[in-house]
Amino acid sequence: MNRGSRIIGYGTALPERVITNHDLAQTLDTSDTWITERTGIKERRIGGTTRALGIEAAQSALDMAGVEAKDLDAVILATTTPDRVIPATASSIQLALGARCGAFDLNAACSGFVYGLNVGHGLILAGAEKVLLIGSETLSRFVDWEDRSTAVLFGDGAGAVVLSATSAEDNALLGWALDCKGALEKSLYCDFGGFIHMDGREVFRQAVRIMVATCEHALQEARLSIEDVDLVIPHQANTRIIQSACDKLGVSEDRTVQVLSWTGNTSSASIPLALADAASNGRLAGGDIALLVGFGAGMTSGSALLRWDL
Ligand code: COA
Repeated sequence: MNRGSRIIGYGTALPERVITNHDLAQTLDTSDTWITERTGIKERRIGGTTRALGIEAAQSALDMAGVEAKDLDAVILATTTPDRVIPATASSIQLALGARCGAFDLNAACSGFVYGLNVGHGLILAGAEKVLLIGSETLSRFVDWEDRSTAVLFGDGAGAVVLSATSAEDNALLGWALDCKGALEKSLYCDFGGFIHMDGREVFRQAVRIMVATCEHALQEARLSIEDVDLVIPHQANTRIIQSACDKLGVSEDRTVQVLSWTGNTSSASIPLALADAASNGRLAGGDIALLVGFGAGMTSGSALLRWDL
């Protein structure tokens, strides 16, 4: 089979309303110093709908790729915060963009974008030519703004990429790994009509462990070592989680992308937001190898080794 996939465009969307740590300290027993030191987050963007943020990010990715929505073969929306239970928010995005293809939501919590990348790649290997992958979230709707242990962490936003079919020689997805540890479900959850509940210390401990394991798995599959990786693009949850995992992997922090200081944790949107930031700031050159790694509720994890060629 002479097929592979590559990214040919990316886009992002963030709500206009900014909530700083100082704003939160007005209503919660917290401080800018505590939040900055414990998480690396200084501010987050709040507002909008998963649909609207997703459309904006998707349209800019399509524009950059020079692809018309009518030519898409699939729309995948990675989200853990759909606007409604039924139908999938992807349907509404598909309509607004003018696409005429299959569309579905994918919920793998904060690993959603990496899961979606692997699913999109699989659709391309099965014959699709163009796949739109969006990560869009409005977590602020599920945060208890009176709970300082979670309110300081999350934000809203979206990021998207267009995947295109290419030859096997030009295939950009060099290796991948997906995992889920269902036994850890209780450490991070949100029931219908409720708020996000989290055992922060346990999530922290597990996150470092599963990040390292999923990265090592993907590297092994691609027959690459961490020295071959130019840039690590991790899920943006906590700068100390990123530092700790990078220490264990043997990669210095200056080879990571971090946007969480101004976005907070945007779940499925965090990796495409970081990817777009790196690409637009010249931190990814043609031929560079990027290691995308996500972890989240479930607890899910996933990684993807990408050869950047935009
Ligand atoms: N401001 C001030 N104090 C706070 C606080 C806040 N926003 N949130 C918690 N605290 C307090 C706790 O009440 C506790 O006080 P105590 O010692 O009097 O009981 C103290 O700070 C330490 O709490 P702890 O939970 O041990 O802090 P921590 O260093 O583990 O940091 C998190 C808390 C949530 C920042 C950290 O555990 C974390 O980031 N976990 C992972 C969360 C995550 O990434 N979730 C999403 C995964 S996709």
